[in-house]
Amino acid sequence: MTIPKHVAIIMDGNGRWAKQRGQTRLKGHNAGAETVERIMKASADMGIKYLTLYAFSIENWNRPKLEVEGLMQLLHNFLKKKRKLIMKEGYRLNAIGRIDMLPEKTAKLLEEVMKESENNPNGTLTFALSYGGRTEIIDATKQIAEKVAKGEISVDQIDEQIFSANLYTSNLPDPDIMIRTSGEIRLSNFLLWQLSYAEFFFTETLWPDFSREEYEQIINTFANRDRRFGGVKNA
Ligand code: FPP
Repeated sequence: MTIPKHVAIIMDGNGRWAKQRGQTRLKGHNAGAETVERIMKASADMGIKYLTLYAFSIENWNRPKLEVEGLMQLLHNFLKKKRKLIMKEGYRLNAIGRIDMLPEKTAKLLEEVMKESENNPNGTLTFALSYGGRTEIIDATKQIAEKVAKGEISVDQIDEQIFSANLYTSNLPDPDIMIRTSGEIRLSNFLLWQLSYAEFFFTETLWPDFSREEYEQIINTFANRDRRFGGVKNA
């Protein structure tokens, strides 16, 4: 079976899951954090080398203050409680996005866990935090423009490779699969450049209910899809 190297996930539906139960949205995010743990373990078991999770978008800062604070606290607690598990699963922790916008104590803890896990051998777990695909493309463009202004590269040299190397994901391969839960069929500003050739999977399941079995099924289906990257097979 062809195991994908890199799986990217839009974890959606925490709010609706909570609403169905008459609970607060934060309860839904709490349940969502348990799914993060489940999917991280399942990924490690399947030998998936790169797992990237959309945990907080740059647009999410516009949510009610209480919800934003709750999500930041949840991230903080997750890092504190699960750093041992991250070490056990052997994943390197990585983050993409405007990390400088996170609360200082959380950014610091994130930095610490990233440092502690940097030599782990099994793969990379990336949290997209305060992340926006368009912002990322603008940030990359600014970096490249600066390099041109300093005479480090010429305009003619700018190609896909140079562009990729200036994205937040410069150290990651492009995702093979993008999964979105909760029935929404859109990309919501996630990895706009990197998902060019990814296979997309959409499921109605709300993120807190997303099971190991369904995840494994998606990975199986991927193994049977025919990826041609714009070419023809057996030509
Ligand atoms: C989308 O659901 C989910 C989020 C905005 C946050 C994702 C966060 C988690 C899964 C939990 C914690 C993550 C970590 C890294 C510990 P929604 O609130 O948009 O749901 P809705 O569309 O049903 O309202």
